[in-house]
Amino acid sequence: MASPDLSIVTGALSYSGKHIARKLLAAGQRVKTITGHPNRPNPFGDKVEVAPFSFEDPGGLTDTLRGASTLYNTYWIRFPMRGMTYERAAENSKTLVRCAEEAGVQRIVHISIVRPSKDAPYGYYRGKAEVEAAIQASSLSYAILRPTVLFGGEDILLNNIAWSLRRFPVFPIAGKGDYKIRPINVDDLAQLAVEQGQHAENVILDAVGPETYTFRELARTIAQTIGAGTLFIPVPRLFMLLGARMIGLAVRDVLLTRDEINGLMDGLMSSDEPATGTTKISDWLQQNWDLVGTVYASELRRR
Ligand SMILES: NC(=O)c1ccc[n+]([C@@H]2O[C@H](COP(=O)([O-])OP(=O)(O)OC[C@H]3O[C@@H](n4cnc5c(N)ncnc54)[C@H](OP(=O)(O)O)[C@@H]3O)[C@@H](O)[C@H]2O)c1
Repeated sequence: MASPDLSIVTGALSYSGKHIARKLLAAGQRVKTITGHPNRPNPFGDKVEVAPFSFEDPGGLTDTLRGASTLYNTYWIRFPMRGMTYERAAENSKTLVRCAEEAGVQRIVHISIVRPSKDAPYGYYRGKAEVEAAIQASSLSYAILRPTVLFGGEDILLNNIAWSLRRFPVFPIAGKGDYKIRPINVDDLAQLAVEQGQHAENVILDAVGPETYTFRELARTIAQTIGAGTLFIPVPRLFMLLGARMIGLAVRDVLLTRDEINGLMDGLMSSDEPATGTTKISDWLQQNWDLVGTVYASELRRR
């Protein structure tokens, strides 16, 4: 029997899943997490039970999910690494959905991406579309939330833009920098997820904040707020990619992928839908200007 007060969150020891788990606990829910790093320090102590992802053992994964009424799913990969591909991540996600059905879970709140498409030139977006289709074909009721780019907490992308602005005298902007970006605060996404976990109808919502910038405007706003006198120089797309690669080599990480740069320039980090988050990134920057970008956030170190 599914218990209405037990939720499963994938990745509650990582980024957005941690914020979702925090809000669920505050709302009086019991929370269990599934993670690839079960031995990572658990900020929730014994309030959040930890289980490993076991995609190769669907029976075990089903047992882990049994008893929960809602699954909050953040599982995905930012880029292929160490044998993990988008195709494999999509298969794992579909296994998770099947196991959730088998376990008697009633609802999935799934974190996707704005504008997923099976025909997208980017594996990230194709894989996301495939997983969304599997969820819609399942017996679970669903809320599919499609964020653009997250900020706040332990975010990577905007933090590392601020980090670069603090460290380097020049900042390359691919092309005119007039492509739009509309970030959402990670707590707003978590709030939206928890609210949607309480409903039963099927919904697909873009998860977007109240402010839309061009990329050039956003980079300038960050620079001004943190007090960086950085010079912005327009460069061809390839130069931005090469620059990102060089910084990535220096910090032993992947700063930005080719798909992220192309997706950003294609307008895939924005949306014309109504705002579903309330926190303005300009306000958040004012409140966090002394912290944002002071430490590089490494994707590879988290993995
Ligand atoms: N961050 C953003 O700006 C952003 C923007 C748009 C959409 N999204 C979507 O939002 C969701 C959550 O993103 P997030 O940034 O909060 O992710 P995250 O916390 O870093 O990771 C979410 C989950 O995916 C697992 N995971 C991540 N990379 C993996 C890899 N290479 N191999 C195996 N497992 C991996 C994590 O495993 P562990 O539990 O082991 O850490 C965790 O359980 C994702 O579906 C993402 O596509 C994020």
